Amino acid sequence: MIQSIDLNAIQSAIKEKYKKVSCSPEGNFKYPTGKKGAEALGYDSTLIEAASQELIFLFCGIGCPFSAGKINTEETILDIGCGGGFDMFCASKLVGPKGKVYGLELSRDMAEKAKNNLSLASARNINIQIGSSEQLPFESSTFDAVISNGVFNLSPEKEKTYSEIFRVLKPGGRLQFADMVLKEELPPGEISAKAWSH
Ligand SMILES: C[S@@+](CC[C@H](N)C(=O)[O-])C[C@H]1O[C@@H](n2cnc3c(N)ncnc32)[C@H](O)[C@@H]1O
Repeated sequence: MIQSIDLNAIQSAIKEKYKKVSCSPEGNFKYPTGKKGAEALGYDSTLIEAASQELIFLFCGIGCPFSAGKINTEETILDIGCGGGFDMFCASKLVGPKGKVYGLELSRDMAEKAKNNLSLASARNINIQIGSSEQLPFESSTFDAVISNGVFNLSPEKEKTYSEIFRVLKPGGRLQFADMVLKEELPPGEISAKAWSH
């Protein structure tokens, strides 16, 4: 279906959109973002209240990956498409001081915000890398759980994304994600890099 459009053009359009989002998510989404969004999606209120204003302001997830299963203390977690870092912040609170949380982010602008916000929040054992879900810069069998929130719908090569996730999960590891799905295939004329990223 997407062979007719340029995969690089899709990623450039996504980076362009999230450059804007890194300044403010407001007006860039059709759903509530920031604190209102996190509250509406059922995030634990103690985690919302523990986050700084800068951290929660950039939240633009579409669900709550933590409602899909428990994250345990001392686990090693990967957040794909970590955005401004709120989901990484929640994961770091859940794994505790002996756990580790890695983030992967396509947009350099969002990754810089996440690094800054999480360092100001004194979140421990955090590591953020710039890259794409289709080629994960991690060793095989590294993570107890992979989380993601509103990202796979943006990946132009979803089979590669899922195959990479299963490669980096430890045997018995979990994938906990929230995302959007198309209910029916779009006519080819409606598929464009701009439409993909919006
Ligand atoms: C809806 S936001 C994620 C919300 C985030 N987890 C939070 O805590 O607010 C989607 C993020 O995924 C990133 N992204 C999009 N496609 C990606 C891909 N293929 N690989 C990695 N990151 C991607 C975007 O740049 C954006 O920051």
